[in-house]
Amino acid sequence: MSSLGFGLIGTGFMGKAHAIALRSVGTVFGERDAPRLRYLVDANLDNAKRSAEAWGFASAGDDWAALCAHPEVDVVNICTPNHLHREMAMAAILAGKHVHCEKPLALTASDAVALRDAASRAEVRTSMGFNYMCNPLITVARELIRNGELGEIFNFRGWYQEDYMADPATPFSWRCLRSQGGAGALADLGTHLINMAEYLLGPISALFGQLSTVHTHRKDPVSGNSREVENEDIAQILCKFSSGCPGTMEFSRIATGTKCDLGFEIFGSKGSIFFAQERMNELRLYESQGPARLRGFRTILAGPQHPPYAAFCPAPGHGLGINDLKVIEVWNLINSIASGEPVFSDIRNGCRVQQLSAAVELSNRTRDWINVEQRALDQNAELV
Ligand SMILES: NC(=O)c1ccc[n+]([C@@H]2O[C@H](COP(=O)([O-])OP(=O)(O)OC[C@H]3O[C@@H](n4cnc5c(N)ncnc54)[C@H](O)[C@@H]3O)[C@@H](O)[C@H]2O)c1
Repeated sequence: MSSLGFGLIGTGFMGKAHAIALRSVGTVFGERDAPRLRYLVDANLDNAKRSAEAWGFASAGDDWAALCAHPEVDVVNICTPNHLHREMAMAAILAGKHVHCEKPLALTASDAVALRDAASRAEVRTSMGFNYMCNPLITVARELIRNGELGEIFNFRGWYQEDYMADPATPFSWRCLRSQGGAGALADLGTHLINMAEYLLGPISALFGQLSTVHTHRKDPVSGNSREVENEDIAQILCKFSSGCPGTMEFSRIATGTKCDLGFEIFGSKGSIFFAQERMNELRLYESQGPARLRGFRTILAGPQHPPYAAFCPAPGHGLGINDLKVIEVWNLINSIASGEPVFSDIRNGCRVQQLSAAVELSNRTRDWINVEQRALDQNAELV
């Protein structure tokens, strides 16, 4: 396969993570996959130029529409604030480009559906920035469930909590605006875990949601005035999977002391697993067999026996990091473009997560359980 030309929009936290991944993927997985770093755009032209030079992009600019239209750009990476994803992704899709979009896909379910349907019509390949899913140990967790090694799954308990807004003195930012940050902790953190829950256990069929804002006002860093926070600090979901398994999920951006505390516990008739992102190279497994006096959780350390760990490192227990997950995410997209096969997680998964998030908001408003089987979601006019 001839190498693909990539255009990257945004030079912040995720822009740099995507750039590291684009530069590394050929080294890790083989030179044939090495992308061409064609075009880097940021609203701040100086940042774009400086980063393009440091990261090895051929050209830089401040016009994302020009990047989407550029004939040597085959894939558009979108690493800008949430409210810009829809417009940028749609322009890229309509220009026939493949898209790698950070989460959340959009701010509303209707925008997400429009993107999903446009990508399907254009027959472009897509990928979402649900990087935690790319952990080889998450694949092991899924296999344990799918192969029946945990028996009948009784219960799912998932969470994603951080404390980046726990301090009420943390200033107002775009993340506090519904028109830019979407549904607060649900959009920022919950989308990762909701997607992972469905990857592990299959589709959710019904849910009940509750949203709470604790710090209702924050100081504007420019004017110094107090501004009303428009979205929620905490989201809680009670759910039922199509398999019949019940579950709970909880997301918070004000969970004091937690830094990247995404995790889950899954309990089955033959065993249980526990995963926590802050210890991302460990999967804890309990198996209900052997003498009772010797039973207990044991820790599986990530190693070369868990593909594609060996592409990074031949030695077990040395561990992968968050940027390695981004490399795997980019590699999955490159393979998807070559094979024509979709990846989990692509724009369809990003859309479904957006629809589920809208259902959580609807449930919070109506205090009702919401049917979230795919057909019901697509037909529910209240969710758009
Ligand atoms: N996958 C993950 O684990 C993860 C982690 C953090 C953030 N994110 C997501 O990544 C996205 C970006 O977040 P971030 O933390 O990198 O933000 P950031 O503020 O660090 O960077 C955003 C960048 O976008 C640029 N930008 C803004 N408007 C633009 C425009 N009109 N044209 C071109 N560039 C523009 C800014 O100048 C900035 O460089 C968000 O959607 C966020 O939810 C994902």
